[in-house]
Amino acid sequence: MKVLIVFYSMYGHIYRMAEAVAEGARQVKGAEVELRRVPETLPENVLAKMGALEPQNTMAHIPVCTVDELPSADAVIFGTPTRFGNMCGQMRQFLDATGQLWAKGKLVGKVGSVFASSATQHGGQESTILSFHITLLHQGMVVVGLPYSFQGQMRIDEITGGSPYGASTIAGGDGKRMPSENELEAARYQGKHVAAIAAKLAG
Ligand SMILES: Cc1cc2nc3c(=O)[nH]c(=O)nc-3n(C[C@H](O)[C@H](O)[C@H](O)COP(=O)(O)O)c2cc1C
Repeated sequence: MKVLIVFYSMYGHIYRMAEAVAEGARQVKGAEVELRRVPETLPENVLAKMGALEPQNTMAHIPVCTVDELPSADAVIFGTPTRFGNMCGQMRQFLDATGQLWAKGKLVGKVGSVFASSATQHGGQESTILSFHITLLHQGMVVVGLPYSFQGQMRIDEITGGSPYGASTIAGGDGKRMPSENELEAARYQGKHVAAIAAKLAG
């Protein structure tokens, strides 16, 4: 049973969450879990102006995903930073290259799930995840979120991401806040939950 974690991360927040999603998915017996980045669409000089080159280097060892890899997975867990309340353009471009897979129904019945990151607390994590789900449903995927059995999403004693739609983290206006332990725990929970469902469907 194969779980692919396909993400884009400009400054490393989603990458950190993706690692936690992978930790959770690996807890499920028989799960083969792999991380993939979606292709970059911005030129290097723009990335440099955005201060993204250094964090990009920390992810350089993660293989870049091709859409042809998706049919081999039983579950795909997507991670994206928010861009104006939606997924980032890099992820959109990647998904828009899956037309042939859609035409052949190659992703029908696979588990799909999404986690996100935004700068501000109410800057669009939920809208990013929910609008992402639309594409997964067009592909015929079985959409899985983060159930309330992950109790960490109930807490109000500290600022935290995470909703029934999926794990999320708040990067802060200056991007300096890294995922909290509660947010990482949500990501682990989501990874494990998705992998457990994929195992049942595959069995
Ligand atoms: C063009 C652009 C649009 C963005 N739009 C939003 C937004 O609507 N709401 C928000 O809270 N953060 C927004 N952000 C901040 C990113 O979501 C934030 O940098 C990202 O979640 C950090 O994750 P990463 O380190 O994995 O890239 C935006 C950033 C850029 C560059």
